[in-house]
Amino acid sequence: MLTFEEVKASAEVKAYIDKAHQYLGTMGAIEHSWRHIDRVAINSRRLLIALNYSPHEAELAAIAGYLHDMGNVVNRYNHGRNGALIVKQILQRLNMPLEDLSTVLAAIGNHEEKTGTAVTSVSAAVIIADKVDVHSSRVRKKDIASFTTRDRVNYAATKSDLEIDTDPNKIIRLRLEIDPAICSVMEYFEIFLTKMLMCRRAAERLGCKFELVINGAKLL
Ligand SMILES: [Fe+2]
Ligand SMILES: [Fe+2]
Repeated sequence: MLTFEEVKASAEVKAYIDKAHQYLGTMGAIEHSWRHIDRVAINSRRLLIALNYSPHEAELAAIAGYLHDMGNVVNRYNHGRNGALIVKQILQRLNMPLEDLSTVLAAIGNHEEKTGTAVTSVSAAVIIADKVDVHSSRVRKKDIASFTTRDRVNYAATKSDLEIDTDPNKIIRLRLEIDPAICSVMEYFEIFLTKMLMCRRAAERLGCKFELVINGAKLL
């Protein structure tokens, strides 16, 4: 099987991710590259391993998690679906078997909240790992006055931990610490509600409940 490490080592993968980072930077969008994709890959794999999915599925989740935002090299809109089509060519050149390829493409193409659904366990893991990555370090703008609401809620997040309570509870929990001087908890909740609802459906696909805890208070 094609491994996560082999995918990571691909020169094409590196080049497209670097360029996507550069292009998103010109519009001041939050960070979607090395730090984010590493974290999504690690947490996608961690979720499936903790929930007793096979090592093979966990490896595919790591690969899909690492590649999920590559479509930003074309355009930030529809980057999930564009990304899946770019990734298909790369992984075919790396001889990924068709069944694995389909799983990875579906996970990438379904990670955006407007059009995506957790169609497989791998897809569910990538959705959760992606949406829970909220952190001040993702904000690339320097001037606070130019922040969008999304920048501000990320900037306010000083800590974000993905917790997995396995049997018998089966709870996937995002525990956030938010600086209320920058963004109120309710404001955060309002902005991220659709993402959190997508996480809840994805967690159900994995047979789990999803919880959101902000500054010690359970909101979902
Ligand atoms: Fe994305
Ligand atoms: Fe992402």
